[in-house]
Amino acid sequence: MQESSLFLNRQEFGSPENKGNLLGVAEAKAILDDWVKNERLKIHMKQVAHLMKAYAILQGYEEQAVQKWYLAGLLHDADWDQWPDQHCRKIIEELESKNIDPEIIRAIASHGPRYFGVEPVTLMDKMLYAFDELSGFVHAYSLMRPEGYAGMEVKGVKKRLKDKTFAAQVSREDIQDASERAGISVDELILFVISNQANADLS
Ligand SMILES: [Fe+2]
Ligand SMILES: [Fe+2]
Repeated sequence: MQESSLFLNRQEFGSPENKGNLLGVAEAKAILDDWVKNERLKIHMKQVAHLMKAYAILQGYEEQAVQKWYLAGLLHDADWDQWPDQHCRKIIEELESKNIDPEIIRAIASHGPRYFGVEPVTLMDKMLYAFDELSGFVHAYSLMRPEGYAGMEVKGVKKRLKDKTFAAQVSREDIQDASERAGISVDELILFVISNQANADLS
């Protein structure tokens, strides 16, 4: 598949008048149950959702903003399992048809600038992009450690990042790019993922 085949060819998502319209958690999880048969992919989205929520709480955001960050993480790959050739487009259209808050849709649309041709602009956009690849990478590392997440250190993750054969599908280039765009070092991002991901609610 050519990278550009997923280009969305637009920069506006959702409608400003839908600001504040959020999906309930049960409704969002129902989309996942309906669309995603791959359990590992579901875990990935729940882990990213958890990181987004934890980061938003750390910023001191109020409840509705925290919920937006959570939902963007929870739904960002919802269409990947069944419609990989329409990845991003399908979930965006679904959320637009449900009149969901444009900030959530925009964050999802910009979670892979190389693939979708949408630049991450807001902090929520940038953090979704940053957590996406790193979350999966750190999880893969936890699965090969007998202790899982316990005692995991940044330097251990960085060593694996240098080993190009480990979790080879994870783009090191995207991790670097996302870190630069967010203005947060890769070390700091890894530390945040290590410190928070083990507590993700996977139900
Ligand atoms: Fe994705
Ligand atoms: Fe993802």
